[in-house]
Amino acid sequence: MHTLNKKRLITVALTCVTLIGRGRAFPFMFEKWGVIPTTGVSALEARSSGHLLADMASLTQENACRVSCFSECFHGVRKEHSFSWSKRLGFNRKCNYETLQVRATVSKIEHNVSSQDAGLATNGGKRKVTDSIKDEARRHGLLEPPTTFSAKYVPFSPYETTEEFYSLDEIIYRSKDGKLLDVQHDMKALKEYDGKYWKALFDSRVGKTTWPFGSGVWSKKEWVLPEIDNDDIVSAFEGNSNLFWAERFGKEMLGMSDLWVKHCGISHTGSFKDLGMTVLVSQVNKLMKMNKKLIGVGCASTGDTSAALSAYCAAAGIPAIVFLPANKISIAQLVQPIANGAIVLSLDTDFDGCMRLIREVTEQVPIYLANSLNSLRLEGQKTAAIEICQQFDWEVPDWVIVPGGNLGNIYAFYKGFVMCKELGLTDRTPRLVCAQAANANPLYLHYKAGWNNFVPVKASPTFASAIQIGDPVSIDRAVYALKNSDGIVEEATEEELMDAAALADMTGMFTCPHTGVALSALMKLREKNVIGPTDRTVVVSTAHGLKFTQSKIAYHSKEITEIQCKHANPPLEVKADLGSVMDALRSKLSLTL
Ligand SMILES: Cc1ncc(COP(=O)(O)O)c(C=O)c1O
Repeated sequence: MHTLNKKRLITVALTCVTLIGRGRAFPFMFEKWGVIPTTGVSALEARSSGHLLADMASLTQENACRVSCFSECFHGVRKEHSFSWSKRLGFNRKCNYETLQVRATVSKIEHNVSSQDAGLATNGGKRKVTDSIKDEARRHGLLEPPTTFSAKYVPFSPYETTEEFYSLDEIIYRSKDGKLLDVQHDMKALKEYDGKYWKALFDSRVGKTTWPFGSGVWSKKEWVLPEIDNDDIVSAFEGNSNLFWAERFGKEMLGMSDLWVKHCGISHTGSFKDLGMTVLVSQVNKLMKMNKKLIGVGCASTGDTSAALSAYCAAAGIPAIVFLPANKISIAQLVQPIANGAIVLSLDTDFDGCMRLIREVTEQVPIYLANSLNSLRLEGQKTAAIEICQQFDWEVPDWVIVPGGNLGNIYAFYKGFVMCKELGLTDRTPRLVCAQAANANPLYLHYKAGWNNFVPVKASPTFASAIQIGDPVSIDRAVYALKNSDGIVEEATEEELMDAAALADMTGMFTCPHTGVALSALMKLREKNVIGPTDRTVVVSTAHGLKFTQSKIAYHSKEITEIQCKHANPPLEVKADLGSVMDALRSKLSLTL
């Protein structure tokens, strides 16, 4: 400890003793200055900006010690430095973050175990050539103490207290008395860390390829599925989607200066469903490794869920079984599960009929049910809300507008915003708007009736086919979210939603009909001045427009007879000669030449 005599030691706290690898681990927390003990793992933490200096002072006893791994990290996002035989190591690093953690592993040499075998050698501070990002994560995992965070299933009963809970490793979808389940986190453990810590941690993970934190969902792992092993995670690095400043649409169509579109559809399978499916399939992957009796994962779908499920299952080598309503989903959506090798059942019924059937089937066959009644998916989906706050530098928008069908997503957004507030990352939650197609509007009718007596409807066909749902499974979750966020429900007719999508496209977007529903709701609320001209507003775009080109083609070629298609922009069929081309341009550009 002699170097400490020269330096000012602010705090030395022994936090825990764990067993790591071959040697005993002694994690110590220091502020500013510290000494790494002869063997074990030591963590030094600088809580403020400034220089951090550590000294391998106690390595003087014998040379039979090796600093095998040395890293700076924010919970997993690490820079590694490796040092070979060393009696003494000093480093001096400028800490640009609020919290910088420095950790070193020092171990007694056992000559029969090479550092290569132990997987600890690095390639000039980089990953070993033979390492995959998962190998690297595994190696880091060995250095991490076990997580102190946890989550469990509880019945969704926000107005009653209950003792009932289940492990996330159980295969269960409803409580004893048939309620939906909710994933409940140990908030006390999460609150051990303040808002600044979480912000710095999450910000440090954006845009990296570190497994699994390069994913927008798993960058929030501690708030999603804290206990899952990184090895079990099935991820396509989903999330981190574009928050698009809708400058022209806002200014020219609505007189708004602060309008944003969260493009959740710019994603692996083209919809926000990837956010939830990575969580669900990861958990199933874990359950299968635990030898739980499961032969695959199944869902009923209006298109996007089946696409996401099939892709993630294919990535993990898990059989996927999808029930789709025949002729009610887009070709692009249908081809996704087919291409990914899922068992695709095209059924002569609507979504609600498919849902009933898959429930009955999963009661008889050990197929894991992946519909949004499964609360695991909402844990992933809620990260889109956290991401919105993060993208605004942890400021909260005034309004968030979400298209709703089965109504899981509106609750997921609510959960994400509430968690940010409760854990001190933000100071409020936004007002939520749920937007429904008038042809499938049970929530809208319920809202208009003062939330009295929910009555399911028979949903009629809508261009927003993914939300053609008359009996939403997450109705209670949605009502709770809306009541607690001073929320509003709006609806859009087929003409309104197609026009809104076309108008947005004219300003450079390429929106799906569901986004058209949300944009139409925004236009109505703006017209009534419920949403003000300077209100920061986020419209959630739930799928990529390229999945819905059929309806766009029909609109622009004015094939939809029931509506005017007033923003149609059909291609001009022109003879291939200069005169005809010039005539066409003259008429289009009002040229007088
Ligand atoms: C593109 C799209 N938008 C919106 C939704 C509605 O989400 P939720 O069913 O969670 O309300 C879905 C769900 O199927 C969807 O696929």
